[in-house]
Amino acid sequence: MTSFIDGLPNDIIASLTISVEQLQALSVQFQVEIDRGLTGDRSSLKMLQTFAQQPRGDERGRVIVVDWGGTHGRVVMVDLQGSGKYAVLHQKDLKFTDAQKTSSAEIVFGIIAETIKQVIGKDQQRSYSLGFIYSFPARLKKINKAIALPMTKGWHLTGLQGKDIVELLTLALQKQGLTNVTVSAVANDTVAPMVLHTYCTKGQHPTAKPTEIGLILGTGTNQAVDLPSLGIYNMESGNFSGVISVHTRYDRQLDQELRDPPSGAQLFEKMVSGQYLGELVRRILYKLVLQKVLSWPVVEVLQTPFAFETSSLSRIAKDTSPALKDIELLLQEFGIQSTLTERRLVKEIAHTVVRRSARLVAASVTGTLRKIDPLWAEEHTIAVDGSLYGRYPGYNQMVQTTLAEIIGVDRAKRVQWVFVHNSTSAGAAVIAAVASREGFSE
Ligand code: GLC
Repeated sequence: MTSFIDGLPNDIIASLTISVEQLQALSVQFQVEIDRGLTGDRSSLKMLQTFAQQPRGDERGRVIVVDWGGTHGRVVMVDLQGSGKYAVLHQKDLKFTDAQKTSSAEIVFGIIAETIKQVIGKDQQRSYSLGFIYSFPARLKKINKAIALPMTKGWHLTGLQGKDIVELLTLALQKQGLTNVTVSAVANDTVAPMVLHTYCTKGQHPTAKPTEIGLILGTGTNQAVDLPSLGIYNMESGNFSGVISVHTRYDRQLDQELRDPPSGAQLFEKMVSGQYLGELVRRILYKLVLQKVLSWPVVEVLQTPFAFETSSLSRIAKDTSPALKDIELLLQEFGIQSTLTERRLVKEIAHTVVRRSARLVAASVTGTLRKIDPLWAEEHTIAVDGSLYGRYPGYNQMVQTTLAEIIGVDRAKRVQWVFVHNSTSAGAAVIAAVASREGFSE
């Protein structure tokens, strides 16, 4: 039987393990980058102004929402009912193929507008306000003018960068004859859980403090922060480059070999989010097979970039059976026969990669918390959404435990983490309702 006590696997696991001291240093660097981003100095954090405002909790009305920022999106009709309540009236999913991800803005906006038409149905007389969740970087000029920056998460559309996405959607709506729909607000997905959670709490307790941090941990990762006296900012924290100091050879290779996003971009996201975790594990397992540490054939999944999906990592984590039966099955699906020792190693590597992600998230959030409350004097709420945080067993616990390691148990107790499942639709509706009420200020 192969023994993994010494040698390569242990070196790999050691290189993926980040100490508390390293996390503390990263959190300080993250805070420095926030400040630099805000003052316009060179920073890997874009700190993009959102022009979104916190709700009162009594917003009402019917809003159309577009949620686009990955392979799966949706168009939803939401009814805001005041008192922090809402209902989803209709919904249609948007699904994009790999080819569409590198097609043109015209094609993608055409698909979105067609889907909006299906959601509205026959009722094309009534006027609708639309909230557009655009989960890619964009520089807003006002709440309904957003200039597209280079895309992330493997998307690359022609005719998009430098264009106002509100204009593009309005044009596509006109082509569908939907002149009764006005795009009232564009927002990043990170803003949705933040304002939705504020809407729900203020709807019940009007004096409640607004939620200050919105965090997405899914295909991509990013944070939004409500900065005292400055307003809500989309940090584009997936681009934080301080993590280069804890890069392993696998991170370096992944970064260098990917075309979109290019090398040097989205370094934090490439170590943290669902888009990349499975790929990192694939690269490590492939190397172990080439080095004959794992005596497996070089099957297709091991050789094909992104063929090993992050959802498989959840499946691996869920298997706690003594013989690791489901991991055995998963590997068999890939054409691999494994020993129990090998399956244990797979489980350990997968866990170590995901654990590192959770620990890096805790460090980045520490940087944000320190920025909004340098004396750690107050209580704070972080509203989180995304499949990695929601579905990977124990991910939330790993983030919270690491936060306590970085800032101490007492301070960590004053930070409340709230999972706001499916935040995008209702969150966007709230953002649009507030924008329509307040007018489109510059
Ligand atoms: C990517 C995008 C960012 C988005 C995040 C989560 O990092 O650049 O805008 O918020 O993914 O979807």
